[in-house]
Amino acid sequence: MKATKMLRYDWTNLRADLVGSGQGLTPADLEARRPQARAAVERFTARVDRGEFGFAGLPFDKQPLEAVERYARAWRGKARTVFVLGIGGSALGPFALDAAVNGPRPFRKKKVPAELVVLDNVDPLVLGRALELADPRQTLVLVITKSGSTAETMSQFLIVYDWLRRKVGAQRAAKQVAAVTDPKKGDLLDIARQEGFALFAVPPNVGGRFSVLTPVGLLPAALVGANVRQLLAGAGAMVEVCRQPELEANPALASALHQYLLDTRYAKHVQAIYCYSNALYPLAFWYRQLWAESLGKQKDRNQRDVFVGQTCLEALGVTDQHSQSQLFMEGPKDKVITFWEVERDPYTVRIPKLFPKHDSTGYLGGRTLNELFRAEKFATELAFTEAGRPNSTFVFPAADEYSIGQMMMLAEWQTAYAGEFYDVNAFDQPGVELGKRLTYALLGRKGFDAERARIAAYRKQKAALTR
Ligand code: PA5
Repeated sequence: MKATKMLRYDWTNLRADLVGSGQGLTPADLEARRPQARAAVERFTARVDRGEFGFAGLPFDKQPLEAVERYARAWRGKARTVFVLGIGGSALGPFALDAAVNGPRPFRKKKVPAELVVLDNVDPLVLGRALELADPRQTLVLVITKSGSTAETMSQFLIVYDWLRRKVGAQRAAKQVAAVTDPKKGDLLDIARQEGFALFAVPPNVGGRFSVLTPVGLLPAALVGANVRQLLAGAGAMVEVCRQPELEANPALASALHQYLLDTRYAKHVQAIYCYSNALYPLAFWYRQLWAESLGKQKDRNQRDVFVGQTCLEALGVTDQHSQSQLFMEGPKDKVITFWEVERDPYTVRIPKLFPKHDSTGYLGGRTLNELFRAEKFATELAFTEAGRPNSTFVFPAADEYSIGQMMMLAEWQTAYAGEFYDVNAFDQPGVELGKRLTYALLGRKGFDAERARIAAYRKQKAALTR
């Protein structure tokens, strides 16, 4: 059965009426910004329509979808492990999709076509152990880097490709590698052509953290059994909603404005994604990157120093009720909570009526874990509200491809609209790029002399102080 149910956004508990004056939004706050919100939609949708930002058109592009499905069909039953070599926007999406569709580790579905291993970090333990455990004859390697040059990904690629060639021979190794990268430029593109790897494109007008609905996310997802058509269908259904000019009809726009106002007017500098679903928890890490890297900016669009951005962190319900909730409820009033809740559970787990005479077990017997889970979310929401902590809830119809596709699309538009409100470029990442350049310089890559000089000056200054 095809899913069609839409995601819901309930922001009632962001209102000052419920969380207290000075802690939440007033009708006047929102009315005052209504023209700005309409203008943001007009400006941004015009740029989307001009083709400046490609993420919104991805659900409607059949070619990559069909190519990915074909590739996944050809590999069905042949690969037991799928390595993803990638980082940031090239890794977080695949990891989130796999966890949602196949279950978070170790609670996996019985039959998963292949296990996804996302090797994003270059901690030597990670790759060392992964190669020790994998069967090279049954390992498919996806090298995912839009720029085709990121140090982490390229170093992993060199190691893994060398390992594969030694284990299965050069000819076969090349068949076991697919590259996902810019279709026009970059070293990975060159290498992939030279070696004859299967090639998938990340459209040039889609940035790393906005690329989950390109083969960056679709290819690994299809290989581990996700219904990528449903993922794109959910995302596609959300596009129209995200283009609406009125706050009431557009949850991406409304939630962007809410977060922006809460951050800049009410000092809610931290947004905690409180995820009541183990399956969706990795999606919170994907969202965190999108929000942080897009909005954390020194300069506005006129190159003035502004130093903006809302810190995003994640919490898992109910686990974090016994951990971070204390801080959220009684610590600094600098947080706004965004709950993620799932309407339909894949399991109903009954609590048996054992030990009815004991207080701590008697009331539980005959209930379900589902009821307990929901009651705890409700209790947390209520407690936060009473404590003057603004909170909202996104309700996912299910932890499935259709809902996740919707959320991914919504989050991308939300981030773009927030960029409009903060007046920053939500699509660049100068801080991340600087880190990459300094690493290249440190390891002797050609053409980074300015960065090498910077490193030498820093070392000298530090040595003078620590002598
Ligand atoms: O959003 C971004 O652009 C970054 O987070 C990138 O995804 C990350 O740095 C990896 O870059 P690349 O895909 O070029 O290897």
